[in-house]
Amino acid sequence: MSLNKKKKQNKKINISFLDSIRMILSLITRRDRIILVLLLGATFFLTFIETFGVSVIMPFVTLATNPDLILENRFVNVVYSFFGFNSPINFMLVFCIALICFYIFRAAYNILYNYALNRFVYRKYHYFSYHIFCNTIKSDYEVFARKNLDDIRKGIIQESLQASQFLSSFLNIFAEISVMLILYLILLFISWKMTLVLTFLLSINVLLIAKGVGKVMGKQGQARQESEQKFFKIISQSLSNFKILKLRAKEEENFKRFEKASLGRSRAQTIFHIFLILPRNILETVGFCLLVACVGYILYAYGDAKAVLPIVSMYALALYRVLPSVSKILDNYNTMLFNAKAVQSIYNNLQESIIIEGNKKIEFKRSIKLIKLTFGYQDKKEIFKDYNLEIKKGEKVAFIGKSGAGKSTLVDLIIGILRPKKGKILIDDVELDSENIRSWRSKIGYIPQDIYLFDGSVAENIAFGEKINKKRLTEVTKMANLYEFLQENGGFDMQVGDGGGNLSGGQKQRVGIARALYHDPDILVLDEATSALDVETESKIMDEIYQIAKDKTLLVIAHRLSTIERCNKKIVVNMRSQKN
Ligand SMILES: Nc1ncnc2c1ncn2[C@@H]1O[C@H](COP(=O)(O)OP(=O)(O)O)[C@@H](O)[C@H]1O
Ligand SMILES: [Mg+2]
Repeated sequence: MSLNKKKKQNKKINISFLDSIRMILSLITRRDRIILVLLLGATFFLTFIETFGVSVIMPFVTLATNPDLILENRFVNVVYSFFGFNSPINFMLVFCIALICFYIFRAAYNILYNYALNRFVYRKYHYFSYHIFCNTIKSDYEVFARKNLDDIRKGIIQESLQASQFLSSFLNIFAEISVMLILYLILLFISWKMTLVLTFLLSINVLLIAKGVGKVMGKQGQARQESEQKFFKIISQSLSNFKILKLRAKEEENFKRFEKASLGRSRAQTIFHIFLILPRNILETVGFCLLVACVGYILYAYGDAKAVLPIVSMYALALYRVLPSVSKILDNYNTMLFNAKAVQSIYNNLQESIIIEGNKKIEFKRSIKLIKLTFGYQDKKEIFKDYNLEIKKGEKVAFIGKSGAGKSTLVDLIIGILRPKKGKILIDDVELDSENIRSWRSKIGYIPQDIYLFDGSVAENIAFGEKINKKRLTEVTKMANLYEFLQENGGFDMQVGDGGGNLSGGQKQRVGIARALYHDPDILVLDEATSALDVETESKIMDEIYQIAKDKTLLVIAHRLSTIERCNKKIVVNMRSQKN
């Protein structure tokens, strides 16, 4: 029974390996496939040059020490007379020059080849990273919210690299196989009997190694991925909850968890590297032992090995070249197994549906209407069913209701972050769809409760990737009542610290407001933007907000009634709100 189980496991690994090849090939473009084939040829040629470079030394030294051989050796003599040399010394001089040229060419080719290979591999790294990054940003907010941020980071940074390395291993395997095939044909030609016997013995070896090591590799790849996941999680958990961690006074426990994950990671890497050299060692030992045993046997049986010596030495030479090839193939096969998980992860990532959105402009001059709108997260119960609502341009609207009632959800639907399951949203009687939704979103300035400021200057944080315009910065910081503070604290270049650590809660919120205003939005949305502030700061900021939003449409979610008393429309949100 356990054998059956084993078989099944093996099969699973094999299928996932073939699947990863299929996946990676489907991930690269047609142009890449052409480059891949060209690189394959280049790799093959490289191996040819390398083999030639090594094997030409012996005859060179032999001829240099014994020039008479030039005339005696049949093959050399043919070359000698073909080019019409008049003395062996002349021949050797030309040989020297030719060799120097060859070695210079070899060096240049090596550099070029490595450039091309690395360029291809790292371009693919870029390509995978870039597409995962873009796809993540393009994904639906609902889908995004379900994901783990560490997983996304890992995909962009690490798994992309592993997937590209999978590709380079794949390339190496093909090149080595072709070199081996040629050498093998030569051996078959020399003595097919001996070749077949050696092949049989060595393939049993290779099979055993591939099966055993392959299984370990696949497992280690998975173990590595799991410990990596924990590793990243602990890092981001600890770094983003520094205060809480300190206050819990349980650093030791955290260190232990980190240690465990980190050790697991290094263990997987160690095993991976040991198993990487194991096949080569076993193979070389077995190969050479077999050969030496052959010679020993012949000596023992016939008392003289002279007759078979040329053949044996030919085999020794070939083994010398073939065995590294076989072990390189095994190495690369194992690396591929190790990275197969990453390929699958990248593949799944890139298979996820993204929303293609157009650039059609939409006008907002009169109203926003929600018509028979129905929404629920994934397969959860609907939060809104056949919900109707109208907001006129310039209105100040407050959304109130208990926590978890669906206020944020409703606002996210209105601003085009979430998409309704049924029903429609009309802007000036034009239906919001994927063609015009980007234009709609660009009209919105959004201020959330927890503003995340990234490490950088106030200016960078406000412009948020857009061009930094001093004039506009001055305007918005004045509106957000931040200008004077900045004047006294290093101006727009003031560094906010990671997460805005150098600023107070109120100041952070003001940077958030300035950020939301930077692109001059028509609609300003506050989702509990001031709830975390003290009453005094909140009322001050809200005064400013009402001032700023004089000519704008304002959507406010808030708990304190004082925050929303100036709104001319109040909407009470309950789960399953039904309004007609
Ligand atoms: N991304 C999400 N996936 C699944 N359920 C969610 C998600 N966001 C919110 N919810 C659920 O939807 C309901 C409404 O949430 P929300 O709109 O944030 O409430 P409010 O803003 O009124 O406090 C809650 O029950 C919440 O658990
Ligand atoms: Mg909310």
